Amino acid sequence: LPKEHSLMIEAHELLAKFYHHLLMNTNEGSGALDYLLKRGFTKESIQKFKVGYSLPDWDFAVKFLENRGYSHDLMEKAGLLSVREKDGSYFDRFRDRIMFPLHDSKGRIVAFSARALTEENQPKYLNTPETILFNKSSLLYNYHEARSHIRRQGNVVLFEGFADVISADSADVKNGVAVMGTALTDKHIHLLNRLTNAVTLCFDSDSAGAEAAFRSGQMLIKYGIDTNVVILPDKLDPDDYIRKYGPDKFREHVIGNAQTWMAYKLHYFRKGKNLQNEGEKLSYIERALIEISKLENAVERDLYLRQLSEEFSLSLEALVEQLSQMNISSE
Ligand code: GTP
Ligand code: MN
Ligand code: MN
Ligand code: MN
Ligand code: MN
Repeated sequence: LPKEHSLMIEAHELLAKFYHHLLMNTNEGSGALDYLLKRGFTKESIQKFKVGYSLPDWDFAVKFLENRGYSHDLMEKAGLLSVREKDGSYFDRFRDRIMFPLHDSKGRIVAFSARALTEENQPKYLNTPETILFNKSSLLYNYHEARSHIRRQGNVVLFEGFADVISADSADVKNGVAVMGTALTDKHIHLLNRLTNAVTLCFDSDSAGAEAAFRSGQMLIKYGIDTNVVILPDKLDPDDYIRKYGPDKFREHVIGNAQTWMAYKLHYFRKGKNLQNEGEKLSYIERALIEISKLENAVERDLYLRQLSEEFSLSLEALVEQLSQMNISSE
């Protein structure tokens, strides 16, 4: 590891420790701590994930790092400081925000994601920019901690947000990781595939989450990964759900009842369709048959055909005939 990289990591570790201290033990941090406790984070998880608070000052980190001998230039390259265009002077990138340290796969802090405390303060999350140490398309939040749990349980739960990972962890779902506000990439999949061949997607139940789950699932399936999908009610995200219904319900009824990829696809294709309408109904049935025709397992094909037949009061014979025509035309 080049000297510069280890200095950058050191600086992150020192700052993270201090931000955590500010959050837990000082007056300046008490508003941020209240915010976190009010939204349901426990002190235990705040400690475990080393959550912190950055002061509103423009030069707190500038001085903190300067006093410890880290050069401004290097700290700017690390994404901790920003530089003013007009005079080249340095200022803190992160101010008055909740600080979530981001660890690489070896458990070293290489970046931060920083949450605003109020709606007025935009963006909601401010991340470290891409640096030599931090590449968001190849980092999974909590990968380092979750690794042994993923191996042991033979499954990883993939979330959209790291707040969801933290909540799930306190609900005793310890095999969770999250992408850093970006689409799932081949690199992410490679990291997961080193540990397990089974992924449970647990995304937000708004339309963005449903789209992301669909796209992510399609990628995972291409890699031959056994993919299941959790469907949460009422546009909640996993963190909201745990707060509203509690950890036990989340574990048993949500994670424990994840849909197979096929069942999720059918759910996805019918979403927003008015099945009372003849045309929309027929187009859904067509879409469902296309998916069923792709199934290699005859028993599975039979299962979904029967479901379709019962649901729309169609004869099994008609569906089988339709399906066999589709198979012929695709050959
Ligand atoms: P909370 O509102 O704190 O509960 O966050 P969330 O995890 O529910 O966030 P949301 O569902 O809105 O977004 C999921 C993920 O996308 C977050 O964990 C972030 O990584 C990312 N994200 C959301 N908003 C922003 C933003 O304003 N900027 C950036 N860079 N990333 C964001
Ligand atoms: Mn552990
Ligand atoms: Mn969301
Ligand atoms: Mn969310
Ligand atoms: Mn949330």
